[in-house]
Amino acid sequence: MAPSKFSVAILLLLLRLLILVGAESQFLCKSSSCSGVSLPAVRFPFRLKNSQDSRCGFQPDFDLFCNNRSQTILSLPNAGDLVVEFIDYRFQRLWINDPDQCFPRRLLINSFDLENSPFVSNYRLEEYTVLNCSYYVDTLPFDRVRKIKCMSGRNHSVINVPNRDLKAVFAFLPSPCNAIATKRLPLTGMELEEGMVVNWSEPDCGYCEMRGGDCGFKSNSSAEIECFNLPNGGIPRGAKYGLIIGVAIPGVLFLIGLVCFICGKFKAFARLNSPSSYLSPSMGRQPTSAVAGLDGPTIESFPKTILGQSRRLPKPGDTTCAICLSEYQPKEAIRTIPDCGHFFHANCVDEWLKLNATCPVCRSSPEDSSATSTPSQTVSVSMPTSPGSVGSLPRHD
Ligand SMILES: *[C@@H]1O[C@H](CO)[C@@H](O)[C@H](O)[C@H]1NC(C)=O
Ligand SMILES: *[C@@H]1O[C@H](CO)[C@@H](O)[C@H](O)[C@H]1NC(C)=O
Ligand SMILES: *[C@@H]1O[C@H](CO)[C@@H](O)[C@H](O)[C@H]1NC(C)=O
Ligand SMILES: *[C@@H]1O[C@H](CO)[C@@H](O)[C@H](O)[C@H]1NC(C)=O
Ligand SMILES: *[C@@H]1O[C@H](CO)[C@@H](O)[C@H](O)[C@H]1NC(C)=O
Repeated sequence: MAPSKFSVAILLLLLRLLILVGAESQFLCKSSSCSGVSLPAVRFPFRLKNSQDSRCGFQPDFDLFCNNRSQTILSLPNAGDLVVEFIDYRFQRLWINDPDQCFPRRLLINSFDLENSPFVSNYRLEEYTVLNCSYYVDTLPFDRVRKIKCMSGRNHSVINVPNRDLKAVFAFLPSPCNAIATKRLPLTGMELEEGMVVNWSEPDCGYCEMRGGDCGFKSNSSAEIECFNLPNGGIPRGAKYGLIIGVAIPGVLFLIGLVCFICGKFKAFARLNSPSSYLSPSMGRQPTSAVAGLDGPTIESFPKTILGQSRRLPKPGDTTCAICLSEYQPKEAIRTIPDCGHFFHANCVDEWLKLNATCPVCRSSPEDSSATSTPSQTVSVSMPTSPGSVGSLPRHD
């Protein structure tokens, strides 16, 4: 039959790609991370101090360590310990944040200076004044004015105001507030709570990374860096991963789909021939529903989130989609399966849920708790509404 030939071809292609990628993964230094599933992956010029050899990193400025919460920590001389949330090796950029989830406090109150570190922020600076008001402020009708939630309480509010808006804000507020700091802050377009992006220029491994090579020291004793394992003439590594994601995964999904389709046909056939089918219009309660996927509206009812610039995730450690195995990037949509809280790229998990009603990771079924999915009944999937959960984070550019 044609479909089975096609599936065999896809399987062979998948195998080939895996072998091609595998053949190249003899790294100078293995990349590492602070916990098995947690990213960022740490490799040259960075290294994890306690698990990678000293020649694996461009020390001492690029040394990272893991704290007792499995966060990847970069210690800067004038800015203290920061969490590294994401490393963009190609464009040599680093997403940093506060280990205690209050980056504004670091930036506005504590001293925060990138001086004496290889990292720079390339954004234009603007003067801000930090106000502490002895009353509760909800939201302020000014574009660039932000209440700092993690520093405010029921009886006081800390507000960050660009100096050029100070007059208007003072006129708006019901009574005066104390100015507690003035700062020059980079206009990053990110919310302060989302941390900051900085980049580095030395060592310059970006071009090597872009061509799919491995950057590292030329030799044991050399301070020069070199690009190793460049794919010569072959498909660049990035393209191979692209192919795997682009061809093999849809292929596997296709196979699953094919199996489900055939199963479905068989079941439908069996049902048509079973006399009891007349008597049970509500198929939802039948065990057969365990095989089928979910319908569009049910899938749409599961919480979906657009990631902000810092890709703040429901579980910060889980930075890779278990279905397509690629890392979550800013502005991507992720969907959470309500009962187990696992999340995936929305476009990956939607395809999966159409075929299969269970979570791909833990196999728990979002339908189990809502008892049934008969169309006549309003779908009552509970949305997690914890206030701290990710929403689409507001951004201003
Ligand atoms: C982590 O270490 C800090 C001190 O460095 C300590 O205060 C904190 O309680 C520890 N947390 C855990 C979860 O062990
Ligand atoms: C702001 O003022 C309140 C008292 O009104 C005080 O408790 C709080 O620590 C102040 N916050 C800062 C950051 O100074
Ligand atoms: C806030 O103010 C109210 C009344 O003014 C007071 O009862 C309450 O204890 C205060 N809360 C805090 C956290 O200080
Ligand atoms: C650092 O970032 C700026 C803008 O974000 C960019 O123009 C510059 O090329 C970056 N530097 C490096 C070395 O990537
Ligand atoms: C490089 O260093 C390692 C350990 O630091 C040593 O075992 C090895 O012999 C060195 N290789 C060369 C070529 O010097």
